[in-house]
Amino acid sequence: MALENRSLITIDDLSNGEMEALFSLADKMAGSMDEQFGVCQGKIMASLFFEPSTRTRLSFEAAMHRLGGSVISAADVKSTSMAKGESIADMARVVGSYADIIVIRHPWEGAAKIVADYAGVPVINAGDGGHQHPTQTLCDLYTIKKERQTIKGLKIALWGDLKYGRTIHSLIFALAKFGADILFCPTPGLEVPEHVIKKLITEYGGEVESYKAIEQGAKEGLFPLDAIYITPSSPHQLAMMPNISIQAELKTGIDALYVTRPQKERFATAEEGQELKKTFPVVDKRLLKGKVFQKTLVMHPLPRVDELAYELDADSRSMYFKQAARGVPVRMALVAFFLGTKEISIPQEEPFSQIDYPLYRRGFGAKCSNPRCVSVQETETRYLKPEFKIVNLKPLTLRCIYCEHGFEPKYVASSDWHEGRLVEKKYHSADSHLARKIKPENLIIFNSEIEAETHGFKPSHYAKAQH
Ligand code: CP
Repeated sequence: MALENRSLITIDDLSNGEMEALFSLADKMAGSMDEQFGVCQGKIMASLFFEPSTRTRLSFEAAMHRLGGSVISAADVKSTSMAKGESIADMARVVGSYADIIVIRHPWEGAAKIVADYAGVPVINAGDGGHQHPTQTLCDLYTIKKERQTIKGLKIALWGDLKYGRTIHSLIFALAKFGADILFCPTPGLEVPEHVIKKLITEYGGEVESYKAIEQGAKEGLFPLDAIYITPSSPHQLAMMPNISIQAELKTGIDALYVTRPQKERFATAEEGQELKKTFPVVDKRLLKGKVFQKTLVMHPLPRVDELAYELDADSRSMYFKQAARGVPVRMALVAFFLGTKEISIPQEEPFSQIDYPLYRRGFGAKCSNPRCVSVQETETRYLKPEFKIVNLKPLTLRCIYCEHGFEPKYVASSDWHEGRLVEKKYHSADSHLARKIKPENLIIFNSEIEAETHGFKPSHYAKAQH
C-alpha cells in the first residue's frame, strides 16, 4: 500500500497502523543509511520555514539529501513575495508547480492546511503557530517505542507550557490514540486549552480528571498534577482516587516526563510572561531523585531555555538529543511514503472512527475568534471563507477547520424558517430549545443582534432568555 499524495497537517491524518509502518521503515533506514541514496532521486522537496528552526528544518533537509533528492528552500518570509502581500494559497500553487513535496512552518495556525488545499502535492506541517507539530510527535512516539517497546498503558507526564506548545497538542492526541494515560503538569497559567481538552474527550474517549493540586503539590514536594487523562482502555482506578492516593499510585513510576519551554513568542501579553515569575520547579537532578522518576524517560522537543537543567545531559534517562537525532530517519521514512517511493505494509488495526461532523460554511456570522488563525488574516480573507465543524448542539459549539479553536455562537436562525414554515424570519438565542431543532444544514449563526437584524431577521420570543 502507498501513502502517495497524502498530506500530514495534524496527527489525526495518520492511523496508528500507518505510524507503526513508518517507524518500521525508519528503523530499517537508520540501520542502512548509505543504502537509501537513490530512494528519492529526481524528486524535489520545498522547505519553507517562516519561523526559526534548527531541528525540524535541518533534519528534513538532511533526510531528503540522504534519500538522494534535492531541496529548494525559503527560510524567511521577508525573502519571499509573501512580504509583498501574496496570499498563502497563491504561494502554495506556485511552489506546488516547482516541487514534488512541501514542508512548511508558519506562525499562523492552519497555514499548513491552506498549503495542502492549494499546492496539489503532498504537504507536511512542520509547525503552524501554537496549533500542531505532527512530525515532532512522530519523533517522540518513535523514541518512546524504541525505549519502552509500547505506548499503550504508559503514564506520560507533560510538563511546562501546555497552552502554546504545539508539540504538546499533537502529542496529546497521539498518546490518547495509542492508549497512554496522560498526566498534565502545566506551568500555572499555561494549562492545556479548553478546545484541546474537549476534542480529547469527544473524539478520543476516556476521561479527564482535574486536580488543581499544583500549589499543594509544590508545597508538599508531591508531583504537581493539574489533571489526568485516562485512556478508555485503562482500568480507571487512577480517576477514582482522591488526590493523595494518586500521588501514591504515581510512586509506581512515571514512564516519561515530556518537558517544554515557555513559548514566550506566542504570549498574548507581557502579563502572561509575568505569571512565569512565580517559580515552578525546573526539571533537574534533585527533582529526578524521587522514586517515581527512577525509570522515567526525560524528553523535550528542544530548544530548551531554563526549564531543563544541563546537569541531566549525561543521565541515561535523558532522551532529548536522541529524539532530535531520530528526526532524520523518521522524516526520511515519511518523505519516502508520501512521494510513493516506498510501499507500506500496515499492521492489522482496529479502525479509528473519526466523527463526521456537519460543516458550517456560510460567508457571514461566524468568524474564528483566534487572532492567530490563518482564516482571519487580511491576505487570506480575500479568497477564504471561514469554515467550521458543528461539534456540539448543547451548548452549540463550532470548531474552526483551520486552527481547531472552538466557539459558542450567541444567536441562530434557520434558513428554512423552521422546518418549512416560511411565515417568519426570526432569530433565537443559541441556548434556547428552539435553536436545537434547527437542522445543521439550515443553521445560520450571528454573533450579535445587530448582525441578525442587518440580515433582515427579527428577534423571536426566544432571542433573549434561556429556555
Ligand atoms: N523541536 C523543534 O521543532 O525544534 P526546531 O524549532 O529547532 O525545529
